[in-house]
Amino acid sequence: MSAEKLVVIGQGYVGLPLAMRAVEAGMDVVGLDVDTDRVKRLATGESFVEDIPADRLGRALGSGRYRPSADYADAEGFDVCVITVPTPLRDGTPDLSYVEQAGTGIGPYVRPGCAVVLESTTYPGTTEELLRPLLESASGLRSPGDFHLGYSPERIDPGNPTWRLENTPKVVSGVDGASLERVDEFYRRIVTRTVPVTSTRVAELTKLIENTYRQVNIALINELTMLSHHLDIDVWQAIDAAETKPFGFMPFRPGPGVGGHCLPIDPCYLSWQVKRRLGRQFRFIELANDINHEMPEHVAQRIMAGLNRTGRAVSGARLLLLGLAYKKNTGDMRDSPAVDVARRLCDLGAEVRAVEPYAEPHHIPGGVLVVPLTEQEVDAADAVIVVTDHDVFDYDMVERRARYVFDTRNRCSGPAVERL
Ligand SMILES: NC(=O)c1ccc[n+]([C@@H]2O[C@H](COP(=O)([O-])OP(=O)(O)OC[C@H]3O[C@@H](n4cnc5c(N)ncnc54)[C@H](O)[C@@H]3O)[C@@H](O)[C@H]2O)c1
Repeated sequence: MSAEKLVVIGQGYVGLPLAMRAVEAGMDVVGLDVDTDRVKRLATGESFVEDIPADRLGRALGSGRYRPSADYADAEGFDVCVITVPTPLRDGTPDLSYVEQAGTGIGPYVRPGCAVVLESTTYPGTTEELLRPLLESASGLRSPGDFHLGYSPERIDPGNPTWRLENTPKVVSGVDGASLERVDEFYRRIVTRTVPVTSTRVAELTKLIENTYRQVNIALINELTMLSHHLDIDVWQAIDAAETKPFGFMPFRPGPGVGGHCLPIDPCYLSWQVKRRLGRQFRFIELANDINHEMPEHVAQRIMAGLNRTGRAVSGARLLLLGLAYKKNTGDMRDSPAVDVARRLCDLGAEVRAVEPYAEPHHIPGGVLVVPLTEQEVDAADAVIVVTDHDVFDYDMVERRARYVFDTRNRCSGPAVERL
């Protein structure tokens, strides 16, 4: 019997790890991506996703069972297709054009008995109301009935060494019992545990609950942090102490704002749907967005005040930012609050230098000079600002040598350190 043929549409942070895992599980995998440059780089063994080292990609290519491609015709004869394309916001509104393009592209290759699964994060109803009609009209087939259709949210956490795709439970769903069974069977080959739910809407909402929960709780702690500063209370210590309660409390830590492809965006998919379907505001989400958006400005103001205390104006000051990615130990700069902080400081007239070992150079904001973390850079800086606390940074050296440190992540201590 020939190996199962999987097509993964989108070879980014979600699609590439899935493709690799499927190859390792013995499937024949086509990694489709419209970004021809990305496809070429993948074909030569170059990985741009930190969690997929080049040797793992090389092994997949070497097995002959992984083929990156920009041509939907290579999907011909597929058994399972998983869609992992972006779902951004455009002017605050869900932009499902990538999902539509993927559905239109794969539709002609849908055949009886195959399965299509959407993994992109989206509002409840997308799989059945948007994707299904596209697939049905392009294929002339029906689901349920002719082909299987489902939704399975992705929980990938880039840079997390413990929880990876294969050992994180995966929620699975289908438009009917047969679809659910087929989708579940597929993912049981990929992950150690699946969590079947009874409808695609439940699965779509599951992902949005997870991300909204984080977004709202981070906002709660961020607001508390801004208020605690004015009350002169150490919020970090209070959170550490609260964390000792063995039940009913989960800690969230303050930070310079939220970033990436998920927290600033996914909850808006839910509030948009609630507004559209019910004509009501999802107040928690909107409030949390407001508070999280305030954080970069709060950070810039605190740095300005801190410099002032050392007798230095922010205009003309030399500032060294540690980390520009939105998340530690990754180079992901999408919607990074660190970039927002950097821009604000540049606008205030500071000379901004940044240490960012992971990001690709073309993502660095204009006006920011990327430098290595050296004693000379720290000595020459009027302030060192810990924005994204990559583990590779030498925090001891920073504590020893910096004149003033503004630490948004609670990584440094000592007389020169002020925490968010
Ligand atoms: N990055 C994460 O940590 C994460 C976690 C969970 C869920 N998600 C969700 O997964 C989805 C994908 O996110 P990502 O981070 O992998 O995005 P990404 O930008 O890293 O990758 C998406 C890829 O899809 C390609 N693409 C766009 N349109 C296409 C099309 N029509 N056909 C083929 N390829 C196409 C792009 O060129 C890109 O390479 C989003 O909905 C996101 O919200 C992301």
